[in-house]
Amino acid sequence: MLGRLFRSIMTSETVKKVPIPPRGVDYRGKIVLAPMVRSGELPSRLLALHYGADLVWGPETVDRAMIGTTRRVNPLTQCIEWTRPATPNPAPDAKENVIYRMDPRREAGRLIFQLGTSDPERAVAAARIVAADVAGIDVNAGCPKPFSTHAGMGAALLREPDRLVSILDALVAERFDVGVSVKIRLLETAAETEALVRRLVATGIAGLTVHCRTTPMRPRQRAIRGQLRMVAGVCREAGVACLMNGDVEDRDQALRLVDEYGVDGAMIATAAETNSSCFRPRELGGLAPWAEVVEHYLRFAMEVGNRFGNTKYLLAQMVPGKAPEYRLVNKSRSFTRMCDIFGLEGAIREQAIEADLRQGIEPGQVTKDTTPVSKKRSAKDAALNAEEPSQKQKVSSVAAAVEKAAAQAQSQSVPEVALSM
Ligand SMILES: Cc1cc2nc3c(=O)[nH]c(=O)nc-3n(C[C@H](O)[C@H](O)[C@H](O)COP(=O)(O)O)c2cc1C
Repeated sequence: MLGRLFRSIMTSETVKKVPIPPRGVDYRGKIVLAPMVRSGELPSRLLALHYGADLVWGPETVDRAMIGTTRRVNPLTQCIEWTRPATPNPAPDAKENVIYRMDPRREAGRLIFQLGTSDPERAVAAARIVAADVAGIDVNAGCPKPFSTHAGMGAALLREPDRLVSILDALVAERFDVGVSVKIRLLETAAETEALVRRLVATGIAGLTVHCRTTPMRPRQRAIRGQLRMVAGVCREAGVACLMNGDVEDRDQALRLVDEYGVDGAMIATAAETNSSCFRPRELGGLAPWAEVVEHYLRFAMEVGNRFGNTKYLLAQMVPGKAPEYRLVNKSRSFTRMCDIFGLEGAIREQAIEADLRQGIEPGQVTKDTTPVSKKRSAKDAALNAEEPSQKQKVSSVAAAVEKAAAQAQSQSVPEVALSM
């Protein structure tokens, strides 16, 4: 006991730490959900928190999309939504696009807002809009897609360190009640990465995440960890919390990697997109079966009024491609149908009908046969395939394109960005 006390006194005296503002969070000791355009919308974040993620990053939101939004509390869901008109001169009763949505009850103190930006003034203007509702402001300096880099955002900032530093300086100087952090990729050589990280940690940021891939690397290429100890060391010296990212599969592995490389925590993206229970430690059950995760996700999505198109996209990431449900999910057009596919009855199905009606979706046939699809898989799948005329397929691919465009409008970003950030 005395030994532990002595060690903790020694540690607090010897470890330098950038002060965390009053409403901010320290990233140390945290295993967190990565920012993911499209895949990191509110229900995905609630799912990650449900399974034990310590913090969640929202999807990158471009500063220009955020500036000019109106903040309101949705009376149905109690979520905070930042909205803007869908068209330049809208009718007074026209529907607004939701640019960003958070759940103040369940995300309070745990949500980090990630900005896409290339300009200090715009970054500050956008951050001001959300700073009072989130626990941190993060700058995306890692997205390699032309969509982001053409506008000088994402990984383009790695080639313009002066600009990146000026953005972080400006955000830190605002003295928001929450910390500022940055997410970067590795540069080609350790010397280049080190020089960059030294400049970034001198700005007063509280945290830095390093995605252990270089900008040209594709997501399927294994993350490289050769520079990680060095990055962790530079951050430690400056008192900045360092999170590692790239091919982290679950909490238990994350904790081992944290130990091995001397970083302060870890961030998980694709493994969580597929099955968020990766945040649950093995001693509490570890990875849950996908059917359980899907049910929780569907509940969260309906509770917070998540768009059907986005919900369907995420469900398609969670259901294994070989499961018969996978194709049915891809063909589904309503929350109610999703319940039928997963054999969900009772209150949740009622909720699905309501969710459909709210989004102007036809809830679809009420099937009398409530046998879960899993129990009559191949027969039903085959029947559905046989019924599907080619004209219908064409219509559904147009519908998919429309959904995709709507998703882009909602996140103010292109889905393709998501695939390889
Ligand atoms: C669907 C998707 C969307 C992403 N969107 C973002 C984003 O908005 N901001 C960001 O910094 N990185 C984004 N990324 C990159 C991830 O945050 C993460 O750095 C990358 O996937 C590596 O982590 P992993 O190996 O755990 O997948 C995205 C990745 C995916 C798969």
